[in-house]
Amino acid sequence: MDKIVVWGGVPLRGEVTVSGSKNAALPLLFASLLTADECRLGRVPQLADIRTALRLLRDLGVQYDWLSDTEVALKADAVHHLEAPYDLVKTMRASFLVLGPLLARFGRARVSTPGGCAIGARPVNLHLDGLQQLGASVRVQQGYVEAEAKRLHGAHISLEFPSVGATENLMMAAALAEGTTVLNNAAREPEIADLALLLNDMGAQVSGAGSSTVIIEGVPTLHGTEHTVIPDRVEAGTFLIAGAMTSGDVFVRGSRGDHLQAFLAKLREAGVNVEETADGIRAHYSQRPTSVTLSTEPYPGFPTDLQAQMMALLTLSDGQSMLTETIFENRFLHAQELARLGADIRVHGNTAEVRGVAFLSGAPVMATDLRASVSLILAGLAAQGVTEVSRVYHLDRGYERLEEKLSQLGANIGRVKSEK
Ligand code: EPU
Repeated sequence: MDKIVVWGGVPLRGEVTVSGSKNAALPLLFASLLTADECRLGRVPQLADIRTALRLLRDLGVQYDWLSDTEVALKADAVHHLEAPYDLVKTMRASFLVLGPLLARFGRARVSTPGGCAIGARPVNLHLDGLQQLGASVRVQQGYVEAEAKRLHGAHISLEFPSVGATENLMMAAALAEGTTVLNNAAREPEIADLALLLNDMGAQVSGAGSSTVIIEGVPTLHGTEHTVIPDRVEAGTFLIAGAMTSGDVFVRGSRGDHLQAFLAKLREAGVNVEETADGIRAHYSQRPTSVTLSTEPYPGFPTDLQAQMMALLTLSDGQSMLTETIFENRFLHAQELARLGADIRVHGNTAEVRGVAFLSGAPVMATDLRASVSLILAGLAAQGVTEVSRVYHLDRGYERLEEKLSQLGANIGRVKSEK
């Protein structure tokens, strides 16, 4: 297994360009199943999760071609297999998003249930309840969801919780259903609005995406289109913290402030200078951050996907910060690893009390999930001495060319390849 080695203490300065959003690109790739025509997606990041999604699509019978480093063309005119197997769904739970489109276009699908993961139980009950309300018969047998419906029909669905994945699965399913679907308490994330844009460009009739009520007028067929994925707000936020945490000055070209308002507000509250321009966001700072209190919330609240990175920043704050995680039940795995670098963090249930320390010092640490891993890299960049992060395959799932981009900002960072 590869390791990333960081020689800390260098202020990061300069400019980096944000990649396309992983969490937007995944449902957009799966939406290509909704038509036999070609769909072209631009600004697709080169990530392990994207390769997993493409492997699944190819197994289903979708042909795809990379037209450039960031543009992929997909054609689902010869889908011959309607099953997503356990070995793929367990490595990437977003694979579960093929259920809605397969069922809507082909009338049936068999998709493995994802099981739990490091950050929480993450059940799929909301996806399944919603599909049943759209008229599907759903059975869970031997670890697989088997769903069938001659043609889905529109329904009024109220989600108990604004689940991102359930909103996406149901939007894709309802796009080809007969009649109108009203999705109440829908997730409002920018990735949902991006999916609606793609679906509408394919001929769907989706309105209200980005608000709590999404209305989908079903249509009989969809057609091909071209679409560019939105920039990755989590990657952008991570680089802004890297600049602030190392007392540096980083400009993230292409990042969108409108997608990051709750995060930028907390960064400013921590004393970081943040400038939003039409071309991107700049963060610079040269003092100790001020402590802050925050709670993760569904969008437009503070994103859970930036909680670990913000915790890394606050380990160096002047005072005591309180971080509450409300989205996932087990998303503080990075706290113990940050403590290995000298951070003072006490976890009580879903709240972490972070008492700022004057400095961190490098140590070997272990990554546990994607965002936890990057928080360890951030802490390593700010720490004195050398930090070695193992299990970096988590990082490769969600950060495109991370070492290269950080090196571009002046970081001393490298990868040690495993001998295998
Ligand atoms: N939930 C249920 N039942 C369901 C669905 C969700 O109880 O049927 C619960 C989950 O267990 C969790 C909460 O609702 O506690 C939020 O889950 P949600 O469905 O909103 O998340 P997701 O679709 O599984 C996406 C992102 C995550 C991100 C969350 C929250 C993708 C591929 N993944 O997951 O991204 O944290 O939304 O914003 O879009 C990451 O990129 O590191 C990551 C984990």
